[in-house]
Amino acid sequence: MSTFWAEKRFCAGPQDTEALGAELAQEFKPGDVLLLQGPLGAGKTCLTRGLARGLGADADSVLSPTFALVREVRGGRLPLHHVDLYRLQGPGEVRGLGLEELFDGDGLTVVEWPERLGALAPAGAWRLSLSLPPDGGREATCLRP
Ligand SMILES: Nc1ncnc2c1ncn2[C@@H]1O[C@H](COP(=O)(O)OP(=O)(O)O)[C@@H](O)[C@H]1O
Ligand SMILES: [Mg+2]
Repeated sequence: MSTFWAEKRFCAGPQDTEALGAELAQEFKPGDVLLLQGPLGAGKTCLTRGLARGLGADADSVLSPTFALVREVRGGRLPLHHVDLYRLQGPGEVRGLGLEELFDGDGLTVVEWPERLGALAPAGAWRLSLSLPPDGGREATCLRP
């Protein structure tokens, strides 16, 4: 049994962050939502690449979205919906993205910048936050629903 849900996990480098995502991927079932918190550069997209790999999809198809706020990665055990709200134009825009449909669907939905979901954040979501300790690496804290 893996132990990723131990309160904290230190990731020394990007490969650890990705490996944590790949490990975590084994736990998800259809309709799960992961709210991925952390500042710019924290490793949220890196962890999402690991999720894709862990689901059996192509990690290279996970990109930092430039214009698309929602991307779908297929080819894995579950469809992965990668949502990045960094470039959200305003509070109204989130309502037009069809996120409720994804949250109620049969894939795994990962949301970067979930603070911007406001009231749309699903109550039963997983939460993982990444922070940058002063001495380098990343610290991940994962909360199961
Ligand atoms: N554990 C880590 N230690 C050091 N650098 C990391 C770690 N995890 C990821 N990174 C690096 O941090 C940078 C930003 O990662 P990214 O996933 O794009 O962040 P975010 O999506 O949170 O803005 C990338 O260069 C990535 O390789
Ligand atoms: Mg990102």
